[in-house]
Amino acid sequence: MTFHQHTADVLAHEHLATNTFLIRLRCPELARAIRPGQFVMLRLGNRSDPLLGRPFALYDTVLDERGKPIGIDVVYLVVGKMTGLLQHVRAGETLNAWGPLGNGFPEPVGSEHVALVAGGIGQTPFLAHIRELLGTRGYAGNAPRRQVQRVSLYYGVRSSDLAAGVEDFRNAGATVHLASNDGSLGHHGFVTDLLASHEAPQHLFGCGPEPMLHALAEQAARRGIPCHVSLETPMACGVGICFSCVTPVKTPDGWDYKRVCVDGPVFDAAGLNW
Ligand SMILES: Cc1cc2nc3c(=O)[nH]c(=O)nc-3n(C[C@H](O)[C@H](O)[C@H](O)COP(=O)(O)OP(=O)(O)OC[C@H]3O[C@@H](n4cnc5c(N)ncnc54)[C@H](O)[C@@H]3O)c2cc1C
Ligand code: FES
Repeated sequence: MTFHQHTADVLAHEHLATNTFLIRLRCPELARAIRPGQFVMLRLGNRSDPLLGRPFALYDTVLDERGKPIGIDVVYLVVGKMTGLLQHVRAGETLNAWGPLGNGFPEPVGSEHVALVAGGIGQTPFLAHIRELLGTRGYAGNAPRRQVQRVSLYYGVRSSDLAAGVEDFRNAGATVHLASNDGSLGHHGFVTDLLASHEAPQHLFGCGPEPMLHALAEQAARRGIPCHVSLETPMACGVGICFSCVTPVKTPDGWDYKRVCVDGPVFDAAGLNW
């Protein structure tokens, strides 16, 4: 695994939805190396509290006028100490970023139709993934290459005010299906039930709260569709040293732990020992 620590200038910081922000970071070396499904650890510059970085998915790379990657966008929800401070960082300040980290999304099975299923803040890894699948942007030095004809995004939120980036996903070429727990946006109910009412795609990718991922994995098994999930397990080091991020996986003789930061965050759902 090759990753580096970068000092990243904040280029922009935008409010997207309730407690949800997009932060744009200038970090050309990282932007040239990262691919969809990978993540970065972010730490506030010039502070020792919180001591540990926090993991955030690549939302997408930022390109200059010649199409060269010069930075990354991260979309985050304010939930606790670090994100509570991050929301007050302004353009012109710096963050520490290290990455790219993790394995990224594998190429899908089948070239016709892929569905991405997001719950809560789990939509964040999917903008770059849509562009990679539809061949409209290349990552990590690879030329753009169309992998599938169609991408559907199923995106579930608790209520409409938490939906962030819906137009980004549409503009990237995905067909977007929305769901909300309270009925204020799209289908009234779980996003996995909305998925179940549509034709089966050839491959499923999911990111979101664990109960949603369980339901998605069960549905994938029932419908015979391959399914990969990106786990949002809390992490301390992000680089394989501390074992704070382990998740149980099936092995030929039972089960064992894998580290989400280096063996994931993307796993074949059928191999997880949930
Ligand atoms: C690979 C990966 C990618 C991620 N990508 C994103 C992203 O793109 N956008 C985003 O907003 N978040 C993302 N997360 C989650 C993000 O890392 C946490 O929200 C963040 O660490 C919270 O930090 P904090 O200091 O604000 O909260 P803390 O003060 O550390 O915690 C506040 C509360 O949140 C809970 N919590 C913290 N982390 C998690 C978690 N991962 N899952 C469930 N509960 C948690 C704690 O138990 C606590 O109750 C990702 C996580 C992983 C592992
Ligand atoms: S976060 Fe330290 S080993 Fe994964």
